[in-house]
Amino acid sequence: MSHTPVAIIGAGPAGLTLAHLLHHNYGIESVVFESRSRQDVEETVRAGVLEQGTMNLMRETGVGERMDREADIDDAIDIALDGQRTRIDLAGLTGHPMAVYPQHEYLKDFIAARLAAGQTILFNTTVDDVTGYDDDRVTVTYATEGGEQQTLTADYVMAGDGSASPRRKLITELPGAVRSKHEYPYAWFGILVNAPQTQKELIYANSPHGFALISTRTPSVQRYYLQCDPDDTVDMWSDERIWEELHKRVSTDDLRVSEGEIFDKAVLRFRSAVTDPMQRGRLFLAGDAAHTVPPTGAKGLNLAVADVSVLAPGLARALKKNNTDLLDAYSSLAVPRVWKAQHFSYWMSSMLHTVPDGDHFQTQRSHAELRSVLSTEAGRTYLAQQYVGLDLPKFEV
Ligand code: DHB
Repeated sequence: MSHTPVAIIGAGPAGLTLAHLLHHNYGIESVVFESRSRQDVEETVRAGVLEQGTMNLMRETGVGERMDREADIDDAIDIALDGQRTRIDLAGLTGHPMAVYPQHEYLKDFIAARLAAGQTILFNTTVDDVTGYDDDRVTVTYATEGGEQQTLTADYVMAGDGSASPRRKLITELPGAVRSKHEYPYAWFGILVNAPQTQKELIYANSPHGFALISTRTPSVQRYYLQCDPDDTVDMWSDERIWEELHKRVSTDDLRVSEGEIFDKAVLRFRSAVTDPMQRGRLFLAGDAAHTVPPTGAKGLNLAVADVSVLAPGLARALKKNNTDLLDAYSSLAVPRVWKAQHFSYWMSSMLHTVPDGDHFQTQRSHAELRSVLSTEAGRTYLAQQYVGLDLPKFEV
């Protein structure tokens, strides 16, 4: 039976970033299990904003070269209310720009770096069972690509296998563990379109017809989102309806949303969830396996990176110095940051969306909130700081 210091379930942002930090920063080996194919991981469409801390982590650990070359790096975002756009000068207010770099491009860079370093990623491999996390040694039972049952032992295991993680219940079943949830009365309809950029910078638009977001992928592929009903299906949104709604919500006399062939349509549900604690013995949760944020502000990937920025030095200290103080503090260090991101994503969502059947009072109050933020330097600075993200935690090993 083979052994690895760290077994990592899931080749998403949490898993691949942890594997990379362990190897690059501390020379610690790990095995990454991923139930999907490499192609699936590298092609699944997700959000795409990198916080300044995430950009720096990529650069400092040798995986930032393509991001610096290909990402759409902007100094500002626009926030519109009833057709009036306000520029949030992120760089001027915080010293940091924002980067649109889709999650699957991030994953491609980490997969390439890991394979180039001769490290293992087991694609098409399903983890069936994890045991031993309350004792001295973890055992992972898995089915190989060919369907063969195998086992691997590990000193520690990290589950970064997404919001449906089967491992989460091992923690939530503990006495005193909490899984806190919130549902939202709206969703996003996301499209990819072959069209030139509408403008260089992103536009978050609050309009009486509902929210819309103008984002980008490449100079010739754009990413747009429209607020929709959570129960909407793709067939309810014809191309004609999409363009009509985007123009109503965003286009003005001096700016027209650029149109083209739509080649991807999907409904994204809004959910918030936080698991606390994120540890049980030798088992750790990170990323969406532990927490989900709604998409507004695109904090999901960045939160996974923040989790493993604690976990990687924590595991290194435990494995190299036989000192588990940082690992034992994982939940108390990670969860407060999760709540801050949760709050920011909730706040941006509630301030920018129209509440279905919203009453006059609620609508006017939330417009006043948005105007207060946009019209004061203090308000714009707060929004900008949260948007570009807090610094990532750093620990000596
Ligand atoms: C994107 C997604 C977001 O949730 C966001 O706030 C900004 C951009 C995107 O997919 O491009």
